[in-house]
Amino acid sequence: MSEQLVFEPSAEAKARTWVTAEQYEAMYAQSVSDPEGFWAEQAKRIDWIKAPTKIKNTSFEFPNVSIKWFEDGVLNISANCIDRHLPQRADQVALIWEGDTPGTQDHITYQRLYDEVNRFANVLKAQGVKKGDRVTIYLPMIPAAAYAMLACARIGAVHSVIFAGFSPDSIAGRINDCESAVVITADEGRRGGKAIALKKNVDDALAKTPGVTRVVVVKNTGNAVAMQDGRDVWYEAEAAKVPAECPPEPMNAEDPLFILYTSGSTGKPKGVLHTTGGYIVWTSLTHQLAFDYREGDIYWCTADVGWVTGHSYIVYGPLANGATSLMFEGVPSYPDASRFWQVVEKHKVNIFYTAPTAIRALMGAGPQWADKHEMPSLRLLGSVGEPINPEAWMWYYKHVGKERCGVIDTWWQTETGGFMITPLPGAIPTKPGSATKPFFGVQPVVLSPEGRLQEQTKAEGVLCIKDSWPGQMRTVYGDHERFMSTYFQQYQGYYFSGDGCRRDEDGYYWITGRVDDVLNVSGHRIGTAEVESALVAHPKVAEAAVVGYPHDIKGQGIYCYVTLMTGVEGDEALKTELRNWVRKEIGPIASPDLIQFAPGLPKTRSGKIMRRILRKVAENDFGSLGDTSTLADPAVVEDLIEHRQNRG
Ligand code: PRX
Repeated sequence: MSEQLVFEPSAEAKARTWVTAEQYEAMYAQSVSDPEGFWAEQAKRIDWIKAPTKIKNTSFEFPNVSIKWFEDGVLNISANCIDRHLPQRADQVALIWEGDTPGTQDHITYQRLYDEVNRFANVLKAQGVKKGDRVTIYLPMIPAAAYAMLACARIGAVHSVIFAGFSPDSIAGRINDCESAVVITADEGRRGGKAIALKKNVDDALAKTPGVTRVVVVKNTGNAVAMQDGRDVWYEAEAAKVPAECPPEPMNAEDPLFILYTSGSTGKPKGVLHTTGGYIVWTSLTHQLAFDYREGDIYWCTADVGWVTGHSYIVYGPLANGATSLMFEGVPSYPDASRFWQVVEKHKVNIFYTAPTAIRALMGAGPQWADKHEMPSLRLLGSVGEPINPEAWMWYYKHVGKERCGVIDTWWQTETGGFMITPLPGAIPTKPGSATKPFFGVQPVVLSPEGRLQEQTKAEGVLCIKDSWPGQMRTVYGDHERFMSTYFQQYQGYYFSGDGCRRDEDGYYWITGRVDDVLNVSGHRIGTAEVESALVAHPKVAEAAVVGYPHDIKGQGIYCYVTLMTGVEGDEALKTELRNWVRKEIGPIASPDLIQFAPGLPKTRSGKIMRRILRKVAENDFGSLGDTSTLADPAVVEDLIEHRQNRG
């Protein structure tokens, strides 16, 4: 039904757009037929110390996958995000910070951003950080998070930002994987009126990270925290000792910029590595065109800098464009469900970018919260992180956008660096629930699960990409084999996204969700294998299998089947204990929604757990379990169904 619903770009959107419908077609065609020429031209948006002459050098051929863009170019990203704007916009606000507590805010001009980042860069240098070193950042949503990232970029250090909701164990794993010797954190964070013990989490993590020699602590709430002599230093004290200016380090386009850990279908989270030149071309171009960003616009992306959305669309893309980017420390529901809309009105936000899970939660609170705010400044709304159901899309359009603002649904991933499939608001008509058409240089293909290319326009299958784009990840940090086997082995010659999709008769893409063992819970990626290994680490658990099930607000919830050790009784108290255990092992985002004690799990005769069946049972879909005759013990399934039904 929703496929019939089409929203043409408004006259206003058409008038202001950077790219018209005709230009989109022509530019897209060129980007695919002549990527070298197209990207040589687009690369001019960046200030290069040495302009690239070699544009594209990429191969998706397994096992020789290699991706290089602009490989002889030299640049510095922090200079592109800050220094080059100073002649025209030293006094323009670069970052608006809105604190968790209403009434707390800050306006950071480009001049101040320059001063702060230079100083931060010199503090890092004084702590011994050199080009190529990895620096772990575990900070709340405060301006220092952006300063720290840009300071690393300024001196050529590689940052690894960890979302401030991760547990000490998760922090330790990430620090050890990339061998960072320096960690930047704060005393505490604030979210929804509560304090988060960041320094304490780092202290606990550091019991397991022999390589860390220095912790730089930013004063945020000002509450007392333990400081270890010889290891921990206060940022403010160190900043007072260093010079004000730090020249930007010349970086090769393919020098690493950052590592960001993300969950896959197997094993530990992978360190997704992005490099310098292609990433900044990609994020700045996509930010400008998909948001139709113009001088003077106030732009707000509600993501956390701990995720790729915060990297690409709070910090790097917008600042490379000389934009004013709003950074929000809090949550949509604090102090009440009108917080987002108050902030939009207060700072006169023109472009607002959030996640479907937030929209659904606010829908649940009722339309009155948004309805009482006119928000005349708003012009464009964006969505990211998971498929947006047409109902949520329409609610967003109606109650937030007042049927005046366009909505862009942007499909992309940590691995892709920036937008891949998205409407350009003045060029591409939208359909609620569809990410619409590919961005320049992106060639999506639909394959059958067995790998057959679906050539007809109307198709359904797995979503792969045929050729490289500049923002693509280059490798898994320290494990190129894993990079190749995860993304290029199953469907040879293509990048495999892990998502399923449908393509309609107009060539529009509709993402249907992950086809692998990755869950998308409130827009956060969680590997079922990670939750399973956390559960089986508990002494009372013999075996665990984790699947997703539909959840009204979160998109997907985490459903855990747990087989207990012989003699252990499963009761509500143990469920709570296991839930807390997983929170402690991974972090609150991985907290199980439902736990079912299962005397046995459905397995094939060779011992493989039949997840397909577990998914169906979790979804209460008992009618289509498929063939269970290959199970070692078909009675197990009856048992699972009975347990599932008993819980209602
Ligand atoms: O399943 C897709 C979903 O989020 C996954 C990527 O997650 P992550 O790397 O954490 O990055 C999230 C922010 C870019 C994808 O594989 N996803 C993201 N955006 C959309 C989406 N699914 C449908 N529609 C989207 N717009």
